[in-house]
Amino acid sequence: MLVACWSVKGGSGTTVVATALALVAARHSLGGALLADLAGDVPAVLGLPEPAGPGLLQWAAAGSEVGSEALNRLEQPGAPRLALLARGRGEAGALDACDVGERLLAALSPTADASGRPVVVDCGVPAEGSAAAAVASGASLSLLVIRPCYLALRRAVASRVRPSAVILVDEPGRALDRRDVEDALGVPVRAVVRTSDTVARAVDAGILAARMPRDLARALAGVTE
Ligand SMILES: Nc1ncnc2c1ncn2[C@@H]1O[C@H](COP(=O)(O)OP(=O)(O)O)[C@@H](O)[C@H]1O
Ligand SMILES: [Mg+2]
Repeated sequence: MLVACWSVKGGSGTTVVATALALVAARHSLGGALLADLAGDVPAVLGLPEPAGPGLLQWAAAGSEVGSEALNRLEQPGAPRLALLARGRGEAGALDACDVGERLLAALSPTADASGRPVVVDCGVPAEGSAAAAVASGASLSLLVIRPCYLALRRAVASRVRPSAVILVDEPGRALDRRDVEDALGVPVRAVVRTSDTVARAVDAGILAARMPRDLARALAGVTE
């Protein structure tokens, strides 16, 4: 399964959800899991130093002759049982092209991966025509991560990328609820993640992988199965 997590607004919780989903999937898969970071914040959420070497950006810039084996060589340890494909440093450049997204989808699809690992991609807020938009559109599960907020919902309704399901990052005091989101977008809410001090603190301290908050793991259990 290739799962894309994306959002229509920064600060939605996309990177936290993508990272937590990959960590949960890694626990339940014999061969572990792979987390590909098109947005750039995953190492910080995993509590890792900024990766120095080449990443997805450099793979994309190297052109179409470079295949999935080259991508395998860029993997680094993200957490126990979780491999990380870092974004790589630099301006978006080559990642602005949607054909790169198609190549990436083909190279990352678990059928192309000998171990059949589940793959989670953090697509951030995909710009129109970008590799992230192509991955978010072509993934076997395209998850829109959204807070139940009117401004985000109207962007989601207008988005060219259509999700297959929604991960709702709920916070107290919102007027909109799960039903409103499902009615507006016409797709199911697959999981509700509640905002909590425990998650916020674990992210800020870079210990999400080492001490995954139980509520977060429970909310996301089964999403990638
Ligand atoms: N479930 C949650 N509970 C509390 N804080 C959260 C939760 N999910 C995300 N956050 C916080 O919200 C901020 C934005 O999260 P992030 O995953 O970086 O969003 P995005 O990737 O959509 O920009 C971070 O400071 C993060 O710690
Ligand atoms: Mg992010």
